[in-house]
Amino acid sequence: MGSISSRGPLGGLPRRVRVVEVGPRDGLQNEAARIATADKIAYVDLLSAAGFATIEATSFVSPRAVPQMADAAEVLAGIAPRPGTRYVALVPNMKGFERAVAAGARAIAVFTAASESFARRNINMTIAESLDAFRPVVEAARGVGIWTRGYISTAFGDPFEGAVAPSAVLDVAGRLLDLGVDELSVGDTIGVATPRGVEEVLGLLLRHVPAARLAVHYHDTRGTALANVLLSLQMGISIVDASSGGLGGCPFAPNATGNLATEDLLYLLHDLGIETGVDLDQVVAASRFIAGKLGHAPASRYLQARGAA
Ligand code: HMG
Ligand code: MG
Repeated sequence: MGSISSRGPLGGLPRRVRVVEVGPRDGLQNEAARIATADKIAYVDLLSAAGFATIEATSFVSPRAVPQMADAAEVLAGIAPRPGTRYVALVPNMKGFERAVAAGARAIAVFTAASESFARRNINMTIAESLDAFRPVVEAARGVGIWTRGYISTAFGDPFEGAVAPSAVLDVAGRLLDLGVDELSVGDTIGVATPRGVEEVLGLLLRHVPAARLAVHYHDTRGTALANVLLSLQMGISIVDASSGGLGGCPFAPNATGNLATEDLLYLLHDLGIETGVDLDQVVAASRFIAGKLGHAPASRYLQARGAA
């Protein structure tokens, strides 16, 4: 009997999904253990070998805000770029952009939120101030051919305010696109979304934004991330963020746990017959390498089920 994957994807699902690996940034930013720069570089290189088209390698933020990312320049300059992989660096302002460019960045991500409380805690700006800060960044990036992504955090709920209106997400999405970002990533920062919220938020966004420019970024705090991904794919999304091993979270969102684990996502996608271009075994190798440095077991269910194999 032929497996599902040999027959192509289940009805309504995309043939191919671009998985954006965010472990080295979203994963490591929330880890207590000090990770040596050389180990971060080795981790990114192992992820490159797995075949990702996009890896979020680091962030050029205030080292006081996120000490774990203080060596961003050394990490970015130290990795061995794989042809076909885009290495993205987060930047919150012009200072971060200048540091990123000096370190050789060819792709950046700016990040704001759909709710004021989280924007204030995360970047110490109102949403409007953040968009003002990003305008010269995106303009300068476009001027020198640097690819740009815009993140919208708390699109499904804010840790301090609770519910967030889908219209607020659409408003920020429109403003980021007006600035000229190439791609938007819609974030469930605190992992509260279920497919009900996904249907509401993406349903609204997709009336205004082409699916090809929209990524989803689910944290798996309440175990709903894969269900949310499946509905997102059925709605036409084909770019999904994930973190190897399920590492991470946001230091500015209380109790935020890791992103959806890349291994769990790949297991699902590949069995559904969806191509990713990523080698699951090599992602496992990268997660095991970094887990050895972090001193705790990865959250990925796939990794746990696999044991030592
Ligand atoms: P601030 O304190 O308001 O900034 O922080 P400031 O402009 O007043 O600067 C204060 C000091 O920081 C100054 O240094 C600046 O030079 C320095 P001093 O003169 O006091 O020595 N500074 C910088 N240094 C290095 N790089 C920079 C930089 N900018 C200023 N880029 C700021 C405002 C935005 C800088 C700060 O709040 C910050 O860095 N926040 C970043 C927080 C962060 O990284 N959060 C996690 C990433 S977002 C996330 O995880 C969500 C996401 O995954 C999606 C989702 O899940 O929803 C993307
Ligand atoms: Mg995140």
